[in-house]
Amino acid sequence: MKAVHVLNGPNLNLLGTREPDTYGVATLADIEARLSALCKPRGIILNFRQSNHEGDLVTWVQEAGRAGEPVILNAGAYSHTSIALYDAIKAAKTEVIEVHLSNIHAREDFRRQSLISPVSRGVILGFGAFSYDLALEAFLARTEAAGNRPYRKQIVKSISLAQKHPSQRRKRE
Ligand code: DQA
Repeated sequence: MKAVHVLNGPNLNLLGTREPDTYGVATLADIEARLSALCKPRGIILNFRQSNHEGDLVTWVQEAGRAGEPVILNAGAYSHTSIALYDAIKAAKTEVIEVHLSNIHAREDFRRQSLISPVSRGVILGFGAFSYDLALEAFLARTEAAGNRPYRKQIVKSISLAQKHPSQRRKRE
């Protein structure tokens, strides 16, 4: 993975002051800094953007699709309404992970449905700013696993330890 696109929809520019009980106190700049700290040592270019306009998000998903680069998308309220984003994700030749800071299933009825979930590779929600980290970790784990990088070794080790009899496990640990 050479680059990752992190796309943020309407009102997410207000994070930090917007309903902190629901969305936490981290600003969008804080989230970008955390992701940047994960991307930099791996030489991954972080393309972090926010717009209040649906068309911008559609254009950016198309761009990522053309480049074949993965997308982490918090489409905000457009997650619940945007057929245009559904179509853009479906057409894009790349994977999209949908993220939300809040657990949309524990909130108002109108938030319980996301139109973009069915066309996303996966959905991570409810962990505040950490939802973004987890989405990035998922992409990293997938790419690093494919290239026999540290993640794979870590995963393989924990699987083989889990399969061992408890007495053998103690010896190896
Ligand atoms: C949100 C959830 C949406 O329902 C809401 O409209 C947002 C933020 C979240 O990250 O929890 O703007 O996507």
